[in-house]
Amino acid sequence: MSKPEESNWTRDTESKHLPIYQHRHRLIEAVKENQFLVVTGETGSGKTTQLPQYLYQAGFCRNGKIGVTQPRRVAAITVAQRVSQEMAVGLGHQVGYQVRFDDCTTKDTLIKYMTDGCMLREILTDSSLEQYSVVILDEVHERSLNTDILLGLLKKTPSRGTRGRKLPLKVVVMSATLETDKLSGFLGDCPVFTIPGRIYPVKELYCNLIGPKDKDSSAYVKAVVKVALDVHTNEASGDILVFLTGQSEIEKACDMLFAKAESIDYRYDVDDRTVEGLLILPLYGSMPTDQQKQIFQPAPAGVRKCVVATNIAATSLTINGVRYIVDSGFVKQLNHNSRVGLDILDVVPISKSEAQQRAGRAGRTSPGKCFRIYNKEFWENCMPEYTVPEIQRTSLTSVILTLKCLGVHDVIRFSYLDRPEERFILDALKKLYQFDAIDRKGNVTSLGRMMVEFPLPPGLTRALLKSAALGCEDAMLPVAAMLSVENIFIRPGLPEKQKEAEIMHTELAACSGSCNDFLMLLCIFEKCRASENPSAWSKDHWIHWRALKSAFSVETQLREILLRLKQQKDFPQETFKGSNSELLRQCLCHGYFTHVARRSVGKTFCTMDGHGSTVHIHPSSSLFGQEAKLDWIIFHDVLVTSRVYVRTVCPIRYDWVKDLLPKLHEIDVYDLSSVAREEVTDEEMARWEKKRAAQKQMESIEDASKKLEKR
Ligand code: CDP
Ligand code: MG
Repeated sequence: MSKPEESNWTRDTESKHLPIYQHRHRLIEAVKENQFLVVTGETGSGKTTQLPQYLYQAGFCRNGKIGVTQPRRVAAITVAQRVSQEMAVGLGHQVGYQVRFDDCTTKDTLIKYMTDGCMLREILTDSSLEQYSVVILDEVHERSLNTDILLGLLKKTPSRGTRGRKLPLKVVVMSATLETDKLSGFLGDCPVFTIPGRIYPVKELYCNLIGPKDKDSSAYVKAVVKVALDVHTNEASGDILVFLTGQSEIEKACDMLFAKAESIDYRYDVDDRTVEGLLILPLYGSMPTDQQKQIFQPAPAGVRKCVVATNIAATSLTINGVRYIVDSGFVKQLNHNSRVGLDILDVVPISKSEAQQRAGRAGRTSPGKCFRIYNKEFWENCMPEYTVPEIQRTSLTSVILTLKCLGVHDVIRFSYLDRPEERFILDALKKLYQFDAIDRKGNVTSLGRMMVEFPLPPGLTRALLKSAALGCEDAMLPVAAMLSVENIFIRPGLPEKQKEAEIMHTELAACSGSCNDFLMLLCIFEKCRASENPSAWSKDHWIHWRALKSAFSVETQLREILLRLKQQKDFPQETFKGSNSELLRQCLCHGYFTHVARRSVGKTFCTMDGHGSTVHIHPSSSLFGQEAKLDWIIFHDVLVTSRVYVRTVCPIRYDWVKDLLPKLHEIDVYDLSSVAREEVTDEEMARWEKKRAAQKQMESIEDASKKLEKR
């Protein structure tokens, strides 16, 4: 076993060269002396991988685990892998990770990397985090919704009580260099420990290939490919890191790079003549972990590595050896779209501070260069100064329900690092009320307590619970699982292959009997599971086997949660009157009545949630092209381009949602917030007026529908 030891040895000396190493004794002291501590330092200084190990060596695990949260699941997994290697222990033993639907820990685990969402769920079952001696909130500068909420919760929990705890919980908050004063202020002016970093100058260059009008992905993908190749042929040795927004364009860019790099004529002089080949590696969230490992390995001598990544490489993961950045200027971001009243994953220009962070990745070990494919005008006019925290731009439904279940009744005055707009909180309360997760006074209902157990969006959970009450969860569980994994359909790039895949997918849609995308998911799930060789089946049917495999595992996990809940004696039981083919669809209606649309003119539909947006069925749906036959539909999600598209669609009957729809307009949200209001303000009056108008609209829709039904 000489090889692993050897590599541990190299890693060991490697970690001694990290900036954090010289400060380890002072850091340990600082954690010992303070209940709260902010630790800051340049990305790559060793915070995430080293600090938990120092605390472990200093004996902090005698009184409990060290928990380290990450906003991104890939970061949690890869960092845990790395640390387990450095400590020469098996992954899942002393060092483990937990992300949604994937728990790689055992009872021996002492250093646990996890997503912030998982930590939030743990607080639900153990509010004083008894099992932990230290919680490290990492990547706080990313300002993810869950991390922000954890900050507010942990600020109180540990000091309030030693309930079940022998010692108070230590909370360490780690952040890249931004906003540390604000964080310290929020945590009662706790000390800030700064790890002095060396950062070399990075020359920032504008390539002027993209202007304010070029927001189309094909334009910036082409541009980054061109710039990356220019760097490869003209610049001295050093690896390249390209920033794009997501899987499909990263794969496209890699394909283009492969094709072009092959044809490069290396007679051209490259400064130091050492660069010959180009090793192209993609990096995105849903990539298999063994492929992700490759990213961290140095390229062979004479070969230049070019990593094409999402924003994950901006702070969560550090790739050594990068000297050149190619910045597309865009990022994928979840935003609440007030036009359609839903959260939507948008591609948007990054902020200037984000661009600075990206550039900084080139100057870790030597001077570097950052090539921005956009021009100065784009920088000035399209890029905001800072990224808006997630809490101020997405829907808060799940988080507010979690807070309520934790006993935080007044969710408006909860201690937020940056307060979300009140209307977002009220929106969430309203949604929860519509789903019967809270009552009129804002108290959690028994349904709400069950809903919070599932790591799913509230609507889907409600549909699942309904199906369980009616005894048809065997059909709904696979659907919920399939909707929780990445896209399962392979859509090849080559036109002839595309045709082949399309034919297969159409066949699958047909085999599910009726035209219903949810049923199609169930059908694929069952067919694949029943087949002799599921991975071959997937390949034949142009389905991503990896996605399907995780759907199988997710289904099992959801089933376990459901089984546990069903053992409670007050678990609801109902009987169903109607045909079997309608059962699943009616259950879906119970969760998706907030996503109902009715056919209006031509192929368009109009949403029924009070926004009245015009939507189209997405071409990927099995109902695409059959709009004329449809009347009422529900949909899972929305994609906004020049049009608003709905995806994963199912036809329904008005009757099934008739009794649910009025709930969308039933209550003034102020009834739900715990804030007592003495006077009715003008604003509130206006809101009441609006509500009445909406109710009227609803009534007229109902009338119209009745007439339609009669016809
Ligand atoms: O957290 P911070 O950004 O301060 O640094 P870190 O993530 O602890 O990274 C320290 C070093 O470990 C960097 O040089 C990374 O490249 C390296 N690392 C690695 O090689 N493989 C990983 N999976 C994670 C980190
Ligand atoms: Mg880190």
